[in-house]
Amino acid sequence: MASAFDAEFQSVRERFPALQRQGGNGREVIYADAPGGTQVPSSVIDAMIDYLAHHNANIEGEFCASRETDQIIAKSRIAAAAFVGGSDDEIAFGQNMTSLNFNLIRAFGRSMAPGDEIVVTQLDHEANVSPWLLLAQDRDLVVRTIGLTSDLDIDLTQLADVLNSRTRVVAHTLSSNAVGTVPPAGTIADMAHAVGAVAWVDAVAFAPHRRIDVRDLKCDLLLCSPYKFFGPHLGLAWIRRAFAETLQAERVRPASLFPVGHRFETGTLSHEALAGTEAAIEYLASLGEGIDLTGRLDSAFTRIRDHEMALADRFIQGVARIPGIRLLGTPDTQRRVCTFGLMIDGVEPAQAARELNDIAIYSWNGNFYAQGVMESLGIPVEEGILRLGFVHYASESEVDRVVEALDRIAGAQQ
Ligand SMILES: Cc1ncc(COP(=O)(O)O)c(C=O)c1O
Repeated sequence: MASAFDAEFQSVRERFPALQRQGGNGREVIYADAPGGTQVPSSVIDAMIDYLAHHNANIEGEFCASRETDQIIAKSRIAAAAFVGGSDDEIAFGQNMTSLNFNLIRAFGRSMAPGDEIVVTQLDHEANVSPWLLLAQDRDLVVRTIGLTSDLDIDLTQLADVLNSRTRVVAHTLSSNAVGTVPPAGTIADMAHAVGAVAWVDAVAFAPHRRIDVRDLKCDLLLCSPYKFFGPHLGLAWIRRAFAETLQAERVRPASLFPVGHRFETGTLSHEALAGTEAAIEYLASLGEGIDLTGRLDSAFTRIRDHEMALADRFIQGVARIPGIRLLGTPDTQRRVCTFGLMIDGVEPAQAARELNDIAIYSWNGNFYAQGVMESLGIPVEEGILRLGFVHYASESEVDRVVEALDRIAGAQQ
């Protein structure tokens, strides 16, 4: 039976100007590059233009445009809090996830003693690995790296083996940006907490696909990037208040310590991107129904998940029929999002991406900074894999067009 979302589907697509783009072959472009960044609806573009046209000012001044800017920032914190299931004072914005994470990790590092231990995983993007490695070098800490199971999930047996009373943090992703795996975050947080460590999660590759709720995830800190969920280029962190208050932030002396999330924000933010982020969250909420923003987001993400799971099933079954193509990671749609890492016999990932572009299908090739995944697969990091990903504005016919194209590319080698 068609869901309410299916019925509205064409009107959803019409809200995205980029989805009207045509390729050289006269066909509509398919944005299977979504894991690298999603397209934005007109409402996000309008909110950013409106901010710059009518409210542009620095903060906390005694004049109207500055007060409006303060309100826009406050509203974007409220929207971001609803998006992650936290409280608005626990939100920090930054240039992007990577920069925010470097800052937050430095702040946390101040509380660590030589010999303290950090756990990272091979499933992670380097943004949640490299800052820990650098911190460990500077402060004489120990880093334990958890490997992957054969279906490219975090190996919980290894995790259980390394956790001990010196472990201060377990840093891991909520979803692989290279192969789509969704590890069991609640279980990992329980394991971390059992030894007194914090759970530090990267939600960047998870946020466009599934509802984030920091209470269910049981994490202590979470990061994501609005440009991966239909908003502008920006980074966003949620830090549990009690935990945030223990951290000594990288900040200039006169900067306010309140709200608590603000102490991790350095310098002037991109106010227009904050306005755009609020609009992106409102856009997502508009896909659902409910009495408040949280309820509408809950309902929207149920619809998004159902639609994307159907797309994932279709794609997985489609590529399974093509000789010479290997889907990396689990085919179980309960344990993955709609991000697919592929290898095609005899075809370099860059070559496949170029051939797809020739027929107006955007895709990615490379390592996507998921160095651990490449190492675990034994793939040279500089070579990488082919990655295709879909978000809710993708259609079944687009998935079919991508599968047909992959069939032709792989077939040419047989
Ligand atoms: C899983 C994951 N984490 C972190 C990042 C880094 O995000 P940002 O570009 O906001 O620094 C990315 C970017 O692709 C990502 O996919």
